[in-house]
Amino acid sequence: MSRIVVISNRVSLPDEAGNPAPGGLAVAVEAAMRGYDGVWFGWSGNVAESPGDLVHIQRGHVSYVLTDVRPADFEEYYQGFANGVLWPILHYRLDLADFHEADLDGYRRVNDFFAERVGALLEPDDIIWVHDYHLMLLARALRARGHHNRIGFFLHTPMPPPDLLTALPRHEEVVGALTDFDLVGFQTDNDAGNFARYLSTVMGAATADARRYRIGERVFRIGVFPVGVDPEGLRELAAAGLDSDFARELVASLEGRTPMIGIDRLDYSKGILCRLDGFERFLERYPEWHDRTTFLQIAPPSRSEIAEYANMDAAVSTKVGHINGRFGQVSWVPLRYVNRGYRRDEIAVMLRLARVALVTPLRDGMNLVAKEFVAAQDPDDPGVLVLSRFAGAAAELDAAVLINPHDRDSLADAIDVALGMPLEERRARHRELFAVLEANHIKDWGRHFISALTRPGRSLDQVLGRWRDAERLKRRPPH
Ligand code: F6P
Repeated sequence: MSRIVVISNRVSLPDEAGNPAPGGLAVAVEAAMRGYDGVWFGWSGNVAESPGDLVHIQRGHVSYVLTDVRPADFEEYYQGFANGVLWPILHYRLDLADFHEADLDGYRRVNDFFAERVGALLEPDDIIWVHDYHLMLLARALRARGHHNRIGFFLHTPMPPPDLLTALPRHEEVVGALTDFDLVGFQTDNDAGNFARYLSTVMGAATADARRYRIGERVFRIGVFPVGVDPEGLRELAAAGLDSDFARELVASLEGRTPMIGIDRLDYSKGILCRLDGFERFLERYPEWHDRTTFLQIAPPSRSEIAEYANMDAAVSTKVGHINGRFGQVSWVPLRYVNRGYRRDEIAVMLRLARVALVTPLRDGMNLVAKEFVAAQDPDDPGVLVLSRFAGAAAELDAAVLINPHDRDSLADAIDVALGMPLEERRARHRELFAVLEANHIKDWGRHFISALTRPGRSLDQVLGRWRDAERLKRRPPH
């Protein structure tokens, strides 16, 4: 059987017991590689003046191969172009994109460097699967080195419409390089549709079915592969976690108040400031909830060397202080704000205990916290998911309370509705949501993608049969 070679900027080593590191990409890729012999290649997380030999770490059937990058690479490729230009544009934030030609040079250089280093490990029948926006030039760089393997790409972030993509300087080179992959996968139909329009209107690609495209001699496909979770596994993890000191201490600290939760990397795309605006409006409008609820916002720092992230960190801290100062009492703090990450089992138990989850990104590729919250709930007494319609997860989880995160009044009302929702409605919504999770299990995600990549004769509709079935589940009108 062919090996799977996964390439991503960040590689998440599982711990010694084989548990994947937390984080959407890490968990999804780890699950996708189960059952395959494989290699996962990427950045070690270290910066060195002269990157030495590759580091090889074997865990089970996967060989993790890590490379350092140079300080200039970190600045230009990671901070500069990937996270200072591509990330904001992919999240519809043209206003935050700060383009410098030198950063694009760094991006080209690191994509070439990755191609050179991983290229030396490749065998002709390896199936190569590249992840995320850091490595959009990688197929082109590998093909230029004579690698004819099948190469797929999956974008974990949103793909914006052509009007936004074309604001990216040199977009023909960067976005256009995706056409060197054999299969380009997206989280939602909306993302795939946006890319399809870019292909037709900007690149002049020809297509008969909006799935298979031709530019000159080159033929490639696009597809939709929404990342899922392991609902039963998470439910068990969360339930088991209730019998822990961590859970007991958390419950005791609530003193009978109803918990709400938000868990996000400290990133402007997550909409934390708008969420806090909505929470403040909720406290203004619904004083009957004062001293009866506690909102726990977990926000581990992220990319903090980038100015926009540092600014946002400061703005969120100020807002938290303002809300607690304005509404808090000597014996009640409405908002607990914690800047650190937690283990997977701890996250599962926090989600289980929460009556309401606020998952309100301004834009998100998928947002697995939304799915993990649903999975972690007690089906007999489930909590309520308040979900931004701009999260990729909203395309599947439409039995959640869907909101516009820019509208603080409707967010405030949605929090009140969620906190007061009767048990029967909570159960009915949860049943629908859980069924969606079961119909799109994470174990199928990698299989679907690799099957579509390696068996191009099969139609994507055949490959994605189960997902399409899930889509046919009865839909509930949005809140
Ligand atoms: O798609 C989301 C993503 O960019 C992943 O690629 C990445 O692992 C994660 O966010 C965390 O970001 P970073 O690697 O910049 O810390």
